[in-house]
Amino acid sequence: TRTIKLAVIPGDGIGPEVIEQANRVLDAALAGGEVALDRTEFKLGADRFLETGDTLPEAEQAAIAEHDAILFGAVGGVPGDPRLKNANIERGLLLKLRFDFEHYANVRPCTLFPGVESTLKQPGDVDFVVVREGTEGPYAGNGGRLRPGTPAEVATEVSVNTAFGIERVVRYAFETAQSRPRKKLTWVHKTNVLVHAGATWQRIVQTVAAEYPEIAVDYMHVDAATIFMVQDPSRFDVIVTDNLFGDILTDLAGAIGGGIGLAASGNINPDGTFPSMFEPVHGSAPDIAGQQKADPTAAILSAALMLDHLGLTADGDRVRAAVRADLATRGAATRPTAEIGDAVIAQLPQRG
Ligand code: NAD
Ligand code: IPM
Ligand code: MN
Repeated sequence: TRTIKLAVIPGDGIGPEVIEQANRVLDAALAGGEVALDRTEFKLGADRFLETGDTLPEAEQAAIAEHDAILFGAVGGVPGDPRLKNANIERGLLLKLRFDFEHYANVRPCTLFPGVESTLKQPGDVDFVVVREGTEGPYAGNGGRLRPGTPAEVATEVSVNTAFGIERVVRYAFETAQSRPRKKLTWVHKTNVLVHAGATWQRIVQTVAAEYPEIAVDYMHVDAATIFMVQDPSRFDVIVTDNLFGDILTDLAGAIGGGIGLAASGNINPDGTFPSMFEPVHGSAPDIAGQQKADPTAAILSAALMLDHLGLTADGDRVRAAVRADLATRGAATRPTAEIGDAVIAQLPQRG
């Protein structure tokens, strides 16, 4: 038996509700096999901050680093909660894990499963994956506020783009494109305005492209990419882009793929130096928390990405097949969170 050490961070709001179902599906998918999960749960997020004042204590981060993978729900309190005014859970916890654990490839697939209604009237074939840079760009936190609260206030938020950081994610995206039948890569930026970062991205994409003659490469400005994504998503196969453009494009992709409740992601450290982290694209959804209204499918599909990453692709495929079968029968109907978990478990194909 192979034992996988799994760190679980359920988080806030609907995070624990969807992670509970993802864990049930993982247990059902691995039952009777050669793999055992050894889970450690870490209570982190806005609720923990309100209780103890902690965001991500060093000792806990070190303990998380000792695991093979991380399953993450969602963090964040109710927007505008005055008690969280001086907290920054998103930066201090989620982004800190992504940055410190070098999750440079933030992989966000977008597939419209049969039976699922897209927000688009005529979506066509939707099956693409966004590889979002995860450790730098405008998310780097480089900037500041001068003279805050005065009419002379100045705020800067400086995007950081290193050749090292761009090249490693661009390479990962080319490898992803190489592994897919259509072998197409679209890189997205705003080179007409962000001329400095744009030129560095362009240089590196062109250099790496020379090593992948089979891949058809094209470029789009990010604003135009949003048009094409809603007009004809079938033109995308693999998209590679910077951290902020990727954040925005993947919420749009979520809507196209049938809703944010279905959108999964992996924060991948391809080098294996640190554990990779798998999480739904959505947040803690305070508006529906505690009501068993959250769709756990995004969390379940994130767990499937985790199985792939751990080399258990047959089990990842079984979980995806179960989700596919469930979505094909349930259509657009919403059901309580646990019932969706039950239905996916019931649809799991036999192993072997
Ligand atoms: P959100 O994704 O939490 O919610 C947006 C909308 O989508 C809401 O109407 C919500 O009810 C709905 N929704 C989200 N997930 C759903 C699901 N699984 N099933 C059904 N409906 C779902 O985004 P927000 O409202 O902008 O943010 C709420 C909090 O979450 C904030 O504190 C924000 O910073 C945080 N956040 C965290 C993460 C994360 O942990 N990865 C991601 C995004 C936002
Ligand atoms: C996401 C979220 C995060 C991001 C926030 C909560 C920091 O929106 O995972 O898409 O911007 O990356
Ligand atoms: Mn986002």
